[in-house]
Amino acid sequence: MDIEFVRSRFIKHFDGTTGSVYASPGRINLIGEHTDYNGGFVFPGAVDKGMIAEIKINGTDKVRAYSIDLKDYVEFGLNEEDAPRASWARYIFGVCREIIKRGGKIGGFNTAFAGDVPLGAGMSSSAALESTYAYALNEMFDCKLDKFELAKIGQATEHNYCGVNCGIMDQFASVFGKAGSLIRLDCRSLEYQYFPFNPVGYKLVLLDSVVKHELASSAYNKRRESCERAVAAIQKKHPHVEFLRDANMGWLEEVKGDISAEDYMRAEYVIEEIQRVLDVCDALEKGDYETVGQKMYETHYGMSKLYEVSCEELDFLNDIAKQCGVTGSRVMGGGFGGCTINLVKDDKYDAFITEATAAYQAKYGRKPKVYDVVISDGSRKLC
Ligand code: GLA
Repeated sequence: MDIEFVRSRFIKHFDGTTGSVYASPGRINLIGEHTDYNGGFVFPGAVDKGMIAEIKINGTDKVRAYSIDLKDYVEFGLNEEDAPRASWARYIFGVCREIIKRGGKIGGFNTAFAGDVPLGAGMSSSAALESTYAYALNEMFDCKLDKFELAKIGQATEHNYCGVNCGIMDQFASVFGKAGSLIRLDCRSLEYQYFPFNPVGYKLVLLDSVVKHELASSAYNKRRESCERAVAAIQKKHPHVEFLRDANMGWLEEVKGDISAEDYMRAEYVIEEIQRVLDVCDALEKGDYETVGQKMYETHYGMSKLYEVSCEELDFLNDIAKQCGVTGSRVMGGGFGGCTINLVKDDKYDAFITEATAAYQAKYGRKPKVYDVVISDGSRKLC
């Protein structure tokens, strides 16, 4: 996907003029899944796949938006009651509304956009879209919002216009991404640190199961509610506990009889996962990739058996990774479909991809998609 492609479509749809072009990436996450909305740590990085949008202020109070990939055109106003029906357009509308709610004075614009982040693959195509418009509109209308606020605008768009009560990880990674570095983010304080990630002798590769679960957003919200119920129970005994991040297994154990077995399992996973992120950071500082990989497998187990956000196909891909001697492998992102992320030694890479592709095809009748990870920059203006 390139600028010229987006530009040619923009020119075609909007009377031959050009505007400014902005881009934002999707993300990977090395470890720390479903920890962000629990006030915990995550370890994402931006990728070389994302969204590109051309935008030109049109002097009206209407947004005229064209999705190049879906070949769909939508026009909407900027008031709350103008919300478009098309789900892709709600992301753009939501970003506009959230900027306005923060005092940004924005007007109408023409825009066309396209992307190459696979949809529903757990790589945050929606955050890439939100960040692209948050970043661009902030700059073009001179709203003076900082990058933290831009990430929060994307997250609030999900909450208020798309029905997903997500955490901040995806939008943060998309806005703050840096080529060659992962970001360790404390999702409560939003303190962050770039970790140059260049595991000599290893590759990071995603295997996309091409499974898309339609109920993912309601199941996601339910996981979050489980965590909140566990926190409420722990709070009765330990009032300062604001998030599961503040709790430990001992305190969870104390309330075992007060919450459902399901909520207990969810909270157990989260408490362990938050610790795994910290363990992985320590291991990375020592160049100990074996430990990093082992933690990834532990995360997969937890996501599959305790948090129950994996699926048969992803478990299958994880098993194959183990059989092929892959250093670390796990389901990535929200789950219920999408990709596994795999840390593989260079000399095992070819055999793993060949074996996983053949076995997956034999079992499910289609090949997984393979994406080599290139850790890239966050939101930016291209021209
Ligand atoms: C989705 C959400 C994120 C995060 C992940 C799971 O990608 O958007 O906020 O919760 O799931 O780690």
